[in-house]
Amino acid sequence: MTHPPVAHDADVRFLLDHQHPDGAYVASPDFSQYPYGWVRDGAFVAHALDAVGERTSAARFHAWMAEAVLGMEGDVRAQLAARAGGRPIDHARMLPARYRLDGGVEAGDWPDFQVDGYGQWLWSLGAHVDGPLPAGRLRDAAVLVAEYLAAFWDEPCYDAWEEGRTQQHTSTLASAAAGLRAAVRLLGAEYDAAAEVAWAGVRTRCVADGAFVKGFGRHDVDASLVWLATPFDLVADEDPVFRRTLARIEDELLVDGGLLRYRADTFYGGGAWTLLTAGLAWHHARVGRTERARALLAWVDAQRRADGGLPEQVPIATTDPWFLDWWTRRWGPSAVPLLWSHAMVVLARSAFASGVPVAR
Ligand code: BGC
Repeated sequence: MTHPPVAHDADVRFLLDHQHPDGAYVASPDFSQYPYGWVRDGAFVAHALDAVGERTSAARFHAWMAEAVLGMEGDVRAQLAARAGGRPIDHARMLPARYRLDGGVEAGDWPDFQVDGYGQWLWSLGAHVDGPLPAGRLRDAAVLVAEYLAAFWDEPCYDAWEEGRTQQHTSTLASAAAGLRAAVRLLGAEYDAAAEVAWAGVRTRCVADGAFVKGFGRHDVDASLVWLATPFDLVADEDPVFRRTLARIEDELLVDGGLLRYRADTFYGGGAWTLLTAGLAWHHARVGRTERARALLAWVDAQRRADGGLPEQVPIATTDPWFLDWWTRRWGPSAVPLLWSHAMVVLARSAFASGVPVAR
């Protein structure tokens, strides 16, 4: 997909400046726990840079991802063979949520088995590349990831918030469906059936009381459900189930102008997330509700540090002071600046600038 370049601003510069020479985007240059390249964060950052015409940066990220993933090929093939042979799979040998900036994997106790990032990577790659991928390392990595998604899309795993290992999460399943749809364009029609099975699973099993919910068997909503429409285009803004979901998200999770991840969140006391608030603005901007989008982006801008850096989250009225204190004692103040937050602002702004078509 080609996009007209739009004017550079400080957020774009910030993203470019924090790309490692090998192509990775660090999650946060300053936060002690985030000196890694997360697959999920990187997929959104690359997409933001594509949206403003910085295609070389995005291409370097995808090349870095290809090498990182192919470095795991032996493990992935062993897990695929185990699944195909009806043997148990080993969650400790699945693709990781994050890599070192040099593309290596660090063994540790991080909740690493998270399928969603790989769906998001293929989706981001599918938007970056026009048409089928030519033979080469990128195609080899994309094939491996597509096979991984087709086999493990509904395997219980940690979600986009690195929580809930034994559950099936709607935004994870939707990310897998979006990645598999991208695989059809990038690699061929053999992924079509898997993509549609995954999406049908979301439509039938992730809905309660007429709205998408956080996961199988749940009744609460999560702000990541916005991604089903923007950016994944799995569902249209006018879809009645999505409309009810959006209404619930705005009624239940929008507090003091910022968006919570989900109501029972306790991470740093469960504050409002700048990347999610900007992501909601992105959706409203894409479908032409520009005033809503502007109000949300104004809230995000008001959360900047003096140097313009955006935090992962900010405490608000509903924040639990005990958990805020507990996490702060454990890891220091919440992450700032967070590249993914800056990326979501760039994407919301680029939707105003380019008039990206309304979701189907
Ligand atoms: C968030 C993830 C994110 C990671 C790096 C975690 O705290 O829950 O969604 O990918 O930080 O930014």
